[in-house]
Amino acid sequence: MNKNDPHPRWALGVRLLHWLTVLVLAFQVIVAFGPMKGPGMSTMNWLPVHMSVGVTILAVIVLRLGWRAFTKAPAQPYSRSWHRARTVFHMSIYALILAVLITGWLGYRPMPFMPPARLFGDLPVPLAPSVGPLSARAFAFIHAKLVWILLGLIGIHVAAALVHLAWFRDGVMRGMSFGRAGARSASEQ
Ligand code: HEM
Ligand code: HEM
Repeated sequence: MNKNDPHPRWALGVRLLHWLTVLVLAFQVIVAFGPMKGPGMSTMNWLPVHMSVGVTILAVIVLRLGWRAFTKAPAQPYSRSWHRARTVFHMSIYALILAVLITGWLGYRPMPFMPPARLFGDLPVPLAPSVGPLSARAFAFIHAKLVWILLGLIGIHVAAALVHLAWFRDGVMRGMSFGRAGARSASEQ
């Protein structure tokens, strides 16, 4: 590791998938709190879009975790326990996204007398199994609550990234960014 480059970058694939997650998740939240909350049948009308975006998020997260499993994280100048705490925090974000996706699926039941939602305009949604005594309504409720916890964690995460950028100036933000030559990718080490 170069003295002037204490925090080399994440592998390009991990960086691309990180920012793709941000874009698709932001779009999902805008749809869920925007048009889906409209009057009348808005929720039902937007649910196919909501679920298709959800499946896209699932694909991005699975790809990202797979890529991540074969990638070294950039070396960080922190103590072992601090490094562990960050890893646990990041893993909680992944786990929560998966929990939101699963509870969303468990919370979906096609409306009687209405055609069931189709993914990407064409694919049928596999019907989720019944789990314990909880109804689909209960899972939709849990789904909505978990989204708030996820948004809370993401808020802390973004605040931490900005503190690194503006206060510590230790290159953590640069490790997840593009542009500016001079930084080696983690996969190149
Ligand atoms: C990370 C991805 C997702 C996010 C951030 C998300 C977010 C949300 C939000 C904010 C709501 C509205 C909650 C409220 O009424 O306050 C909602 C409702 C819902 N979502 Fe998701 N969702 C995601 C993925 C999914 C997936 C993959 C499915 C199904 C396959 C799904 C199914 C549902 C259902 C059934 C509702 C309830 C609609 C109703 O009120 O009847 N969601 N979601
Ligand atoms: C939807 C929003 C976001 C999610 C779900 C998310 C998730 C994550 C996760 C899980 C990691 C850990 C990488 C890994 O171990 O695989 C990470 C790293 C990182 N994220 Fe985000 N992130 C989000 C938004 C942002 C934003 C808006 C920023 C910048 C303002 C940011 C900056 C960073 C940085 C700098 C790292 C690298 C941290 C390090 O090297 O230890 N993230 N992000």
